[in-house]
Amino acid sequence: MSGRECGACPIEGRREFLRAAASLLATFAGLGASPAVAEALAIRPGSALRVRGGNATYPIPDADGAMIDRQEQVILVRFDGNLYAFNLSCPHQNTALKWEAKDQRFQCPKHKSRYQPDGTFISGRATRGMDRLAIRRAGETVVVDVDVMFEEDKDPAGWAAAKVTL
Ligand code: FES
Repeated sequence: MSGRECGACPIEGRREFLRAAASLLATFAGLGASPAVAEALAIRPGSALRVRGGNATYPIPDADGAMIDRQEQVILVRFDGNLYAFNLSCPHQNTALKWEAKDQRFQCPKHKSRYQPDGTFISGRATRGMDRLAIRRAGETVVVDVDVMFEEDKDPAGWAAAKVTL
């Protein structure tokens, strides 16, 4: 046996550890899980490449994550093969939403409404999902129309369609 052994550890030696890690990765790939989705969703501040009228243009993020543009009050999210643009404000009483990294959810700091990364309502005082903004692809960018907002309870079909599928 090469490597150091640990009497209390079920995995003995470096070679066995690497074999176990490779097996785990193979299982992960076999399940079709995306490593980008399985990892914690990254969030960062950002800004539009340009703004003309109500149209804010952003580069397409190359990995799952969220970007908060406080200037335009937009949250741009890439999640599970889709891009979404959200109004930064909570649909309950317009408080700026925050990302809770430990839960991988958006949360309102005022009354604690919680939302999935795609804006789906989970719990709290709000009565609908995060408000989505109109979004369309333009080459390697997306254009968000900050003047066109879809509220899930008033326009469920428009809300559901407000995304760019990658
Ligand atoms: S303002 Fe967000 S839950 Fe009340």
